[in-house]
Amino acid sequence: MQLNILILPGDGIGTEVTREAVKVLESVAERYGHTLKLDHALLGGAAIHQTGNPLPPETVTKALAADATLMGAVGLPEFDAAPPDKRPERGLLGLRKTLGVFANLRPVRAYAALIDSSPLKNHLVSGTDMIIVRELTGGLYYGTPRGISGSGAEEQAVNTMFYTRPEIERVARVAFYLAQRRRKRLTSVDKSNVLENSQLWRRVVIEVAKEFPDVELDHLLVDNCAMQLVLNPRRFDVLLTENLFGDILSDEGAVLAGSIGMLPSASLGDRRPSGAWTGLYEPVHGSAPDIAGQNKANPLGAIGSVAAMLEYSFGLTEEAAAVNAAMEDVLNSGRVTADLKPAGVPATTAEVGSAIAERIRGGK
Ligand code: IPM
Ligand code: MG
Repeated sequence: MQLNILILPGDGIGTEVTREAVKVLESVAERYGHTLKLDHALLGGAAIHQTGNPLPPETVTKALAADATLMGAVGLPEFDAAPPDKRPERGLLGLRKTLGVFANLRPVRAYAALIDSSPLKNHLVSGTDMIIVRELTGGLYYGTPRGISGSGAEEQAVNTMFYTRPEIERVARVAFYLAQRRRKRLTSVDKSNVLENSQLWRRVVIEVAKEFPDVELDHLLVDNCAMQLVLNPRRFDVLLTENLFGDILSDEGAVLAGSIGMLPSASLGDRRPSGAWTGLYEPVHGSAPDIAGQNKANPLGAIGSVAAMLEYSFGLTEEAAAVNAAMEDVLNSGRVTADLKPAGVPATTAEVGSAIAERIRGGK
């Protein structure tokens, strides 16, 4: 199979972790006889530096032409005071919208080897295995009106939480579809005791549930959900949320997994006739400028995103399983980066990537 993949390293540790993810892709291509066609483009702060635009038109063209896109991270401290439309993050938000990747899948698993890396008690975290399905192209991130106006005592700011019925239906269907293939439990998150937007969300999710009678649906208010995630994470199978709630809750999920560096994500759009999904794959972590360029960052979020890409955009389930198994092997070997607090000397970003690639090639 020919795999046409666009790599967007972005900013900070994005460059380092995508380099390791590419190593892993190359090992998969070699072992399973696929042809890799990789292209690179600019996104985020790196793109602003070179072109003045966080999402240059060339990046859009390449992303639309690729079978799948792998993104590292965006964001640089020098843009902290810049308005939202001049920031690196705007590049990523524009890309998500352009690709139409409305369902962001963020699996959270407590790996046995990392159980001591979580600040929570082992008996609470052990066995955690959930997937957060975050709506990604609507809600407060994109709703209008938005902006800051006026000055002095008259200064004001507005953002709008906006969803249409079809936007809720399509992301709910992805979540139910996944639940059907897992433990058949779906928890929908909202704030329907306060927000009309959430009332529509809940009503539509209940309607969509009728198409999936074998999935058990329940609802949690987002504040309670934040609490249940740390009190009883094992109760969750699939968690369905709107955009901002999912952004917040998925960082909380990182605590369960031991480190935010562990979390992969897959952002899926429409399904093509072949059954493959249009996909943008990105680790959940940010650009971590404080450790950028030091070969310290955990590449497992990016490498796990490669596994998701192989599965969802290429239908290569055996290859995806091989990547996941190699990751688990390396975790068990204890050769992990500093964020996972290994007993001995921490491994570097490149060492972790190479170890996984070697295992996939069949060596040890
Ligand atoms: C994420 C990030 C992004 C988001 C930022 C970088 C725009 O926090 O993917 O969770 O808020 O969606
Ligand atoms: Mg986030």
